Amino acid sequence: MTVNSIIAKKRDRRALSIEEIRFMINAYCEGQIPDYQMSAFLMAAYLCGMDSRETAALTQVMLDSGRRIDLADIHGVKIDKHSTGGVGDKVSLILAPLMAAAGIKVPMISGRSLGHTGGTLDKLESIPGFRTQLTADQFHDQVRDIGVAMMGQSDDIVPADKKIYSLRDSTATIASIPLITASILSKKLAEGVDGLVMDVKTGRGAFMAEPEQAEALARSIIRTAALHHLPTVALITDMSQPLGFAAGNWLEVREVLQALQGHGPEDLMLLTYALGVQMLFLSGFQGTTREAAGTLQRILTGGAALQLFFRMVAAQGGDVSALQDPGSHHRTLLEQHIRAGASGFIAEADALKIGEAVLHLGGGRKHLGDVIDPGVGVVLHKKTGDAVQKGEILAVIHANQAGRAKEVFPVVRGAFKITPEAVKKPKLILKIIRSSKTSA
Ligand code: URA
Repeated sequence: MTVNSIIAKKRDRRALSIEEIRFMINAYCEGQIPDYQMSAFLMAAYLCGMDSRETAALTQVMLDSGRRIDLADIHGVKIDKHSTGGVGDKVSLILAPLMAAAGIKVPMISGRSLGHTGGTLDKLESIPGFRTQLTADQFHDQVRDIGVAMMGQSDDIVPADKKIYSLRDSTATIASIPLITASILSKKLAEGVDGLVMDVKTGRGAFMAEPEQAEALARSIIRTAALHHLPTVALITDMSQPLGFAAGNWLEVREVLQALQGHGPEDLMLLTYALGVQMLFLSGFQGTTREAAGTLQRILTGGAALQLFFRMVAAQGGDVSALQDPGSHHRTLLEQHIRAGASGFIAEADALKIGEAVLHLGGGRKHLGDVIDPGVGVVLHKKTGDAVQKGEILAVIHANQAGRAKEVFPVVRGAFKITPEAVKKPKLILKIIRSSKTSA
């Protein structure tokens, strides 16, 4: 077995054995294979695909590259939610404490922003003092004591993914169904969860822009998870426009606080409850979808989820007083209003353009390792389907550099399309897919 022969086999569309995949991944992690050979392998996998057995094998090999968190001694069902990434997607910050308040243990290992998509860790780190690097013991104890912990991937959890993801980022091999499947599931399996709910995004602002691609990814994740005995449900959801109104780290935390006080935007809450309902079902909840959603709504409006969020923030070193007075933190130097040039209806509020604007303002990361400006972003005042009068505000840009604000102005303005005819609001939840073994 040689590196050359494995690359050639994949290039020729032949299926690799688990031994070949293990040889390749381990040798790369140990520094025995240069980046150019791994890049060729990744591109061959990207172009030629991998079947279910190879995808499951790649997941296993990546999982085996590091340690697993053992949560088996913690009483209760442990369930995580993971999104494939979008713009304004702050669901995890609401859902994780909400589900913990509902009695489910939520051990959540999240990612950073990359390209135009935001990342849960960057939103959390905009809270002064918040630590996203926990030891496995701290993570374990916090899940046991509070019911929820949210952290970044440490060096010893799936190190193969860390190394390969950064190479994929610079070799245009991110958007590959088997590579995404193995990357996500290896991390989720390392967390020691009993079930997983996936939010697979589709639309302009998603990695998988076409619904068919998103469904293929969801089915690949569910199939691979089933081979690893992890009950998983996937929702295919719309990411043609940002979720909620705010896009940008601290601006999103502010929206999360409103949501946890019962005043969240309609689409954000709809998706949060829909994902939460599936988490409840995976935990064994016996009842209808309406009953499950009602249970979660009562918990949230009663304030328990907000209190749990504060407890989690405090446990991870965050300054809870900043959350009680969010307007006085991360204020940006500039605010620019984008106004409607005509009356009509919003036909489009393009998530990709808004995400790119946030990235250019400094709210995202063009390359892994870039430093983020937590305060900047875009707040939408209008979304697809809304009526608008000429001169009304469509969005506000929050910036710290005048040059950047000027550059993104046409991008944000170009994100909005106004038509004279009424426009239907896009359907948010397009499909729910479960493996045959998961109930509900
Ligand atoms: N998120 C991940 O964790 N991995 C991918 O490959 C893509 C999105």
